Amino acid sequence: MSFLDHIEPLKQAALAELKAAPDLAALDQAKGRWIGPQGQFTGLMKQLGTLTKEEKPAAGKALNAAKADLDAALNARRGELERHAALPQEPTDFTLPGRRRALGKLHPLSQVTDDIVRSFRKIGFVVADGPEIEEEYHCFDALNTPADHPARDTQDTFYVDVPPAALKPPLNASNRWLLRTHTSSVQIRVMEQQPPPVRIVVPGRVFRRDNADATHNPTFHQIEGLYVDRGVTVGDLKGTVEFVFRELMGEDVKIRFRPHYFSYTEPSFEIDFTNALVKKMGKDWLEIAGCGLVHPAVFETVGYDPEVWTGWAFGFGIERIAMLRYGINDIRLFYENDVRFLRQF
Ligand code: DAH
Repeated sequence: MSFLDHIEPLKQAALAELKAAPDLAALDQAKGRWIGPQGQFTGLMKQLGTLTKEEKPAAGKALNAAKADLDAALNARRGELERHAALPQEPTDFTLPGRRRALGKLHPLSQVTDDIVRSFRKIGFVVADGPEIEEEYHCFDALNTPADHPARDTQDTFYVDVPPAALKPPLNASNRWLLRTHTSSVQIRVMEQQPPPVRIVVPGRVFRRDNADATHNPTFHQIEGLYVDRGVTVGDLKGTVEFVFRELMGEDVKIRFRPHYFSYTEPSFEIDFTNALVKKMGKDWLEIAGCGLVHPAVFETVGYDPEVWTGWAFGFGIERIAMLRYGINDIRLFYENDVRFLRQF
C-alpha cells in the first residue's frame, strides 16, 4: 500500500469523529486525536519528509487537501455546537404573551387635576400658572386682604428670606416674599398681564404652616378659577361649578352655596358638596371650595373698570376632591409615594 492510500481512510475516520462530536469538549478531544500536534493525521503529515523526491509533490498536495477538509469540518461543527449552546435550554412557547415593562401611572392628585382641567377646557377655560415663591402683594394686598389679617401671620404663612438682588422692584410698601398660601395670587398676575375677558384655571401647589394630620398637610394643592366678562352673575358661577362636579363625581352630585367672607369676593360663598359617597361617610354635606363674585377693589387694583367688568372666582382643594373620589381617609398617603398605595389609582 502506497503512502497516498493511507490518506483517504484516515481522513474519513477523522471526519466521522469531528462531525459526530456531541459537544464542544468532545470536539476539542477529537481535534487533538486527529489534527493536534500529537494527532494521527498530523503524524501522517510528519512522514512526508521520509518520502522520495518523486513521491513528495503528489503526497503533499493530497495531504494539504485532506487537511483543509478536516479544518473545514472542525470549524463547521464548532459553529453548530456554539449556536446550539446559545439557544435557551427550555423549549420556547411562542404562543405565550410577551413580557411587558410595567408602565408607571399618574399620581392620583395629577389624575384629578387633569380631569378638572379637562372639564374646564370644554367650556373655554385655559390653564394659567404663577410662582410658588410669591410676593406678599400678590398673595394678600392685591386681593384686598387687610394688613392685619390673621392669614398673613407667620403662624399661618411661610415667609422666605430672599437676597435683595432677587427681588423684582417695585411692588408694594410691604415687599416680603412668602410661599403662596393659595393659588388666588395668580388671579392678580393674570389680570395685570391681560385685558378682560378672562377665563382661566390655575392648578398649583400651596403652602401653610399647618401640622400634618389626617386632613392637613403643610403643602397641598388647589385649583383656582377666574372668569371675567360683562354681566357675570352668581348663576354663572353656580352653573359652572355644578357642571364640573357632575363631570368629575357623577350625576348624583348636589351643590350648595353658603354665605361666607373672602376679602377678594363680594358676595362670597363656601361650596358644600354631597353625593352617595358623602352620605356613606355619615355626613350630609362636605365643604369643598370657596368662591364669589370678584370684589370691585380687586378690579381697581389691576386696572379693570369695575363699572364695566364683572366676574366670579373660586378655589378648590384638590386633595379634598381626590380623597372623596377615591375614598381615601388620610391625606398623608398622597405624599408618602408608597407604590402599593399609588398603584391603586
Ligand atoms: N383662596 C381661598 C382659600 O385658599 C379659596 C378661594 C375663595 C378662592 C374664594 C377664590 C375665591 O378665588 O373667590 O381658601
